[in-house]
Amino acid sequence: MYKIAVFVSGRGSNLISIFNQIEKGILKAEIAAVVTNKKDCKALDFTSENAIQSFVISNNSENNVSISTTQLLEKLGGLKIDLIVLAGYLKKIPIELINSYKNKIINIHPALLPSFGGKGMYGINVHRAVFNSSAKVSGATIHFIDEIYDNGKIIDQEAVNISDVKTPEEIAAKVLTIEHKLLPRVIQLFVENKIIITDQRVYIN
Ligand code: GRF
Repeated sequence: MYKIAVFVSGRGSNLISIFNQIEKGILKAEIAAVVTNKKDCKALDFTSENAIQSFVISNNSENNVSISTTQLLEKLGGLKIDLIVLAGYLKKIPIELINSYKNKIINIHPALLPSFGGKGMYGINVHRAVFNSSAKVSGATIHFIDEIYDNGKIIDQEAVNISDVKTPEEIAAKVLTIEHKLLPRVIQLFVENKIIITDQRVYIN
């Protein structure tokens, strides 16, 4: 079975959408671990309710609750993780992890990169910037991770019309609906080995 680790920092609605697609048999993968930098995030309620193994990572281990990057690498290696999926993970990925999982870490960004990305562009900040830009479309982007925020090659994107929205929150809701479909779909493309990476672009076979 294709094994994924899902990294989260918040409510975990993308984690739940991945889980649901697996339950339906549409996504043929297993969530072998959930990793977070926030020991009290809502997504962890979901992992405990559904008996999914979870790890909290931190630079300074707090009362044995958290583990270090080195320990995480050992755990993920032991689990034979095929793909790391960042689904609302708000901390920079340690370089050791990036080097060990080259072209095996993907992120979902709630806008159409390369616009509206980079440091500080997360959560409602992104949607506010899109709203203020007067853009008529937004969307979701799945891309590879490298050392620079929101910079890795784009794997897939889906756009949504936002010409009638009145608030950034409305954009967030429209984009989230797309995210929940796009992320499991792209993971399944990895499962089926359909992602072709070239120097400039990523193709779907
Ligand atoms: C999503 O919009 C994701 O694209 C962004 O953070 C949000 C996370 O939502 N990076 P959730 O935790 O999956 O509900």
